[in-house]
Amino acid sequence: MRKKIVAGNWKMNLNFEEGQKLTSEIVNMFKDENLKDVIAVINPPFVHLYPAKKLIGDTPNLFLGSQNCSDKSSGAYTGEISAGMLASFGAKYVILGHSERREFFKETNELLTAKTRQALDNDLTPIFCCGEPLEIREAGTHEEYVKQQLTESLFGFSAEEMSKIVIAYEPIWAIGTGRTASSDQAQQMHAALRAHLAGKFGSDLANDISILYGGSCNPSNAKEIFSKPDVDGGLIGGASLKSRDFVEIIKSF
Ligand code: 13P
Repeated sequence: MRKKIVAGNWKMNLNFEEGQKLTSEIVNMFKDENLKDVIAVINPPFVHLYPAKKLIGDTPNLFLGSQNCSDKSSGAYTGEISAGMLASFGAKYVILGHSERREFFKETNELLTAKTRQALDNDLTPIFCCGEPLEIREAGTHEEYVKQQLTESLFGFSAEEMSKIVIAYEPIWAIGTGRTASSDQAQQMHAALRAHLAGKFGSDLANDISILYGGSCNPSNAKEIFSKPDVDGGLIGGASLKSRDFVEIIKSF
């Protein structure tokens, strides 16, 4: 059985106090609602991570992740943060290859292989993002485009390594736009990606990989999107900044 996962990507939002407040609210609601069937991950900016870990403590099924890590293990790389540093205080996940990092920070498929390697070597679960821009969707070549992102970044890993990676499909045209992919569009892409993974790593392994959907997911559309057989959860941007919305999305399963 593959895991159901809802991960919040705070992006570059919230000052220190606001971050603490949001984390506390999520932790309290998570405990009150006794949410057991879904794994939830919060991915705040680096400055919030350690205090957030303290607030989360050992809350069952609630984990901490980062939005990025370096492709290097240590050394003279000013401003970078290594996967080992993140793991050292209890972070468990790391978002890699978000389209904003690909676009604004020129992250390539090749660089993302190196970041994924760092994450795996430090026992962090990569949430590996992929997704097409609008012009590719309109040209009808979106499946080939996204499959190629996976091939180029991930197909050099062993089956055992691949089994530890979570995929997040985020069509760029749906991110922060209020325009979500339809549940059928999400299902179609997720099934195509699972088949692609099966072709390389075998169908048993592909069936165990969680594939999350991201892009304008909110409490009113999550239930419909999560109802699709190949959608195993969500990567949530804007709605993860409101504790009630984030918890409602988790409860959509
Ligand atoms: P929104 O949910 O704000 O569209 O962002 C999605 C996203 O980029 C999550 O990583």
